Amino acid sequence: MKSIETLLKGVKTLAVVCTQWGDTGKGKFVDYFASWADIIARGTGGANAGHTIKLGEDEHIFHLIPSGILHDGAGKVNIIGQGVAFDPRIVVDELNILDDAGYSYDNLYFSHNAHLVLPQHLVMDRVKEGTDGETKIGTTGRGIGPVYTDHYARIGLKLNDILNPSVFRKKLERNLRDKVKLLKLADPALVKEVMYHPDLLHGKYYDPEKIFNIEAIMRQYSEYALRLKDKIGDTERYLRYYLGKKNILLEGAQGNLLSVDGGTYPFVTSSDPSVRGLAKGVGIFDTDIDLTLGIVKAFYMTRVGEGPFPTEIGGKLSEEWCGTGNVNRSLELEMYWNATVNDTDPMRQSVAVRLAGGEYGATTGRPRRVGWLDLPLLRYSMGLTGKDVILTKLDVLDDADTIKLCVKYQYRGPDYALGERVLKKGDVIDVAPHYAEILEQCEPVYKEFKGWKMKTSTLRTFEELPQEMRDIIAYIEKETGVNVRVLSLGPDREETVIV
Ligand code: IMP
Ligand code: MG
Repeated sequence: MKSIETLLKGVKTLAVVCTQWGDTGKGKFVDYFASWADIIARGTGGANAGHTIKLGEDEHIFHLIPSGILHDGAGKVNIIGQGVAFDPRIVVDELNILDDAGYSYDNLYFSHNAHLVLPQHLVMDRVKEGTDGETKIGTTGRGIGPVYTDHYARIGLKLNDILNPSVFRKKLERNLRDKVKLLKLADPALVKEVMYHPDLLHGKYYDPEKIFNIEAIMRQYSEYALRLKDKIGDTERYLRYYLGKKNILLEGAQGNLLSVDGGTYPFVTSSDPSVRGLAKGVGIFDTDIDLTLGIVKAFYMTRVGEGPFPTEIGGKLSEEWCGTGNVNRSLELEMYWNATVNDTDPMRQSVAVRLAGGEYGATTGRPRRVGWLDLPLLRYSMGLTGKDVILTKLDVLDDADTIKLCVKYQYRGPDYALGERVLKKGDVIDVAPHYAEILEQCEPVYKEFKGWKMKTSTLRTFEELPQEMRDIIAYIEKETGVNVRVLSLGPDREETVIV
């Protein structure tokens, strides 16, 4: 049985990122490698991410604090880097959960340069998503888009600003100016409803005339400052200092296909969760990273929110069902209790796979759309991550008679100029173009494999794995050039095979 030590021989800085649309099981692997790491750092995304963590008897969902915090007994340093959209309300909530559970967070630090999430960011995100049917993205409502927009518009605030009230006030007023103008044009009932959401402290920041009560924001953020001030510092310099000296684990968020720079734009998040974005988000170079492990959920994949998904099981029907906003696990269990992963009805099959994989959003509870593993997208995604991958959730399809892999697409849309070529109806594509309007017109061509039909979560070595599963892995490696380094056969640490 190969060990973490063999896998990480010679590695000082390791990054774990997702090659798909997120939710591939990064949480498990950050936890898995945390025992090896001295420092664990996040550098992208914000409270749009979410992973469920067990503390004693209870399960908690963490959005911002790096998962490595639970290994603090060994004195590990946890960092939230400059690239993160930092929402003090959520961080304080998470610190309270840790307090209640008796976990120390003495070694937790926040970059002074992190993007500060303010109430207006949540409001802008939610009012836009609530208004704009045409360009709805299906965001998590955590203010992510507006925060990064402000950053690039040069009107954003940094975490450090909460330490200087008069600077904070000036920047806050500047930041609110245009937003208030826009919100005054929006449906007043919607704005009010959003402002009264629990995430916006039940109307605490609401002013019927000016929309935002600046004094209320000032008061609340100065409270946050008291709670957080000892933890704010130059984490980027700290990390650079320890490069090559300590074991550093970089924890990705979301996934390559949600990258604003390389994902299925515009159905993406507003940061760059690729390994380049992650390195920048913690203040180092991507060339400082010795090993990047890109997670591939296999042999199915998922997506939450809107956007193209060529291999979606159940197609448009599934997309609409998942997007209605009131579907959750218990409803699906009740309605589809007898659906199976071998169901001949695609809609029922997709629900069965979702139930088998527990594919419901940690942040929003939304059902995740499910589809077959898409090799053209994987080939594309390797350009953002490299070729070393972890395959996760392999056990979910233990009962499947047939596994389908999308090996290429046939383009079905109208003529489309793509750089120097013109895509024509019927063209075969084997590396996915990330343009949403092309992907929407791509029909998957599948190769079918026999399922292994046995319980795999108890297997511990590659040699023990069913031949059928090994054949599919070998095919993926040959067809895409990925190098499968680790396999995950269940949520527990032990349910892991190092290849
Ligand atoms: P935002 O990041 O909240 O702006 O959402 C933009 C898109 O990214 C939506 O489709 C979300 O469902 C998706 N998204 C954001 N964070 C995650 C995540 O952690 N896992 C999966 N999808 C995510
Ligand atoms: Mg997640």
